[in-house]
Amino acid sequence: MLNVKNLSEKSNQLIKDLVDLKLKENSNIQTIQPADKTKESSYSQALKELGSNRGRPLFYPYLSCGRANGPFVELMDGSVKLDLINAIGVYLLGHNSKELLKAGVEAGLEDVVMQGNLQISQSYYKLANKLKNIASKNSRLEHVWISPSGAMANENALKICRQKKSPAKKIIALTAAFAGRTTFMAEITDNSAYKQGLPAYGEVLRIPFVSSYSILQCKNNPKLLKQESERALSELKKHINDNPNDIAAFMFELVQGEGGFKIATRDFWIPILEFCKENKIPVWVDEIQTFLRTGEFFAFEKLNLGKYIDICTIAKSVQVGATFYTKEMNPKPGLIAGTFASSSAALSAGYATLNYLEKEKCLGDSGKIEFINKEITKELELLSKGSCKGLISEIGGMGLMIAMTPLDGSKEKVLALLKTLYKNGLIAFSCGHGPYRLRFLCPVILTKQHIKLAISILEKSLIEVNNNF
Ligand SMILES: Cc1ncc(COP(=O)(O)O)c(C=O)c1O
Repeated sequence: MLNVKNLSEKSNQLIKDLVDLKLKENSNIQTIQPADKTKESSYSQALKELGSNRGRPLFYPYLSCGRANGPFVELMDGSVKLDLINAIGVYLLGHNSKELLKAGVEAGLEDVVMQGNLQISQSYYKLANKLKNIASKNSRLEHVWISPSGAMANENALKICRQKKSPAKKIIALTAAFAGRTTFMAEITDNSAYKQGLPAYGEVLRIPFVSSYSILQCKNNPKLLKQESERALSELKKHINDNPNDIAAFMFELVQGEGGFKIATRDFWIPILEFCKENKIPVWVDEIQTFLRTGEFFAFEKLNLGKYIDICTIAKSVQVGATFYTKEMNPKPGLIAGTFASSSAALSAGYATLNYLEKEKCLGDSGKIEFINKEITKELELLSKGSCKGLISEIGGMGLMIAMTPLDGSKEKVLALLKTLYKNGLIAFSCGHGPYRLRFLCPVILTKQHIKLAISILEKSLIEVNNNF
């Protein structure tokens, strides 16, 4: 790979010193803290202003000040929170990661802030190279197109599939799917609350997904999994039969993020994906939430499904969006573009993130991701059998995506729990809507000590909410 050094030794030393200084200045942030009383009124005024500017208040009264250390983030009121949702999975390396600070400062010294698809700089070139190498290792994916967000990566995938299968327009998706916030991605998304008042274009067909929340649950109930796979396959066959030459793709998540962290084993997918192949339906996996989180780079690697994938989308933890496609799916010139490819800082940070995961042994059965998953799951299981018996169930997920059903899984109780957790110092979020579930998108830098703290806040908050209802 071509590598042109654009900064002098002196600049590099200054960057190193600056990053080290910032880390040193933030190193006193070691645990959660309540707000500073003297800042409360100006903070609440700032939140009011922001709410008014946006037309509605923030979900959490969260305004970070830029000081942080790993999973701990300091807000503008001086409080410190333990962050296990990370802007819904963006801060994979935590806050103030040394690697990302360095990448960001270096990118800040590039000649441009945003890179376009017409004029591309070194950081785009390096990231694209790395992404392509990672993706083609265990799949037929050969090309990658970078874009600024997950929804844009999905829109590009949609256009590629439709062009390939032209004039077909319909997409087959799963129940409880989430695909993003553009008009068509809202149509794919199976949640009426996210598309109130929007017209339905009738271009999405649905097949049912599984009922399980963990791989273990699937493995323990192979009979149910087989039934569920057959049910999904029979719906798929029906759609393909009823819509001749009008199916552009089958699109799915391997762990449903917004959908409640639903998950299936390889056995569920094989008959469905085989049938798509037989019928020349492009297979499009949305890995926007799963990428870099499951213990392998891609969830399709974790489930050994690479050979079936024609198109794959990623975003979030890699800081940019991207669409991968096979040689056969490569679109005609002119179909995908856009002024912005992404910012120099995001491109450099994405590249640094991929290098970090390899260098710091995060992947594989003995990697950090697996360790964090096992540790949190073990602690949650203990909680569910001990002081929080009856207050949490259906613990599951994969890698750094961990969720559970708290209390009775009702919207009002889960909402109350989220706000109580926040008040007590832990940031998490919900997923699913029947039941509503509590989810963590953990950073990969968590230690046993951080996990113990998170579990103790969860325990206190569950008991508090349960007593208040
Ligand atoms: C599975 C999935 N697809 C698509 C998206 C949309 O990505 P973005 O919010 O970057 O547009 C998300 C975001 O939550 C997602 O989880």
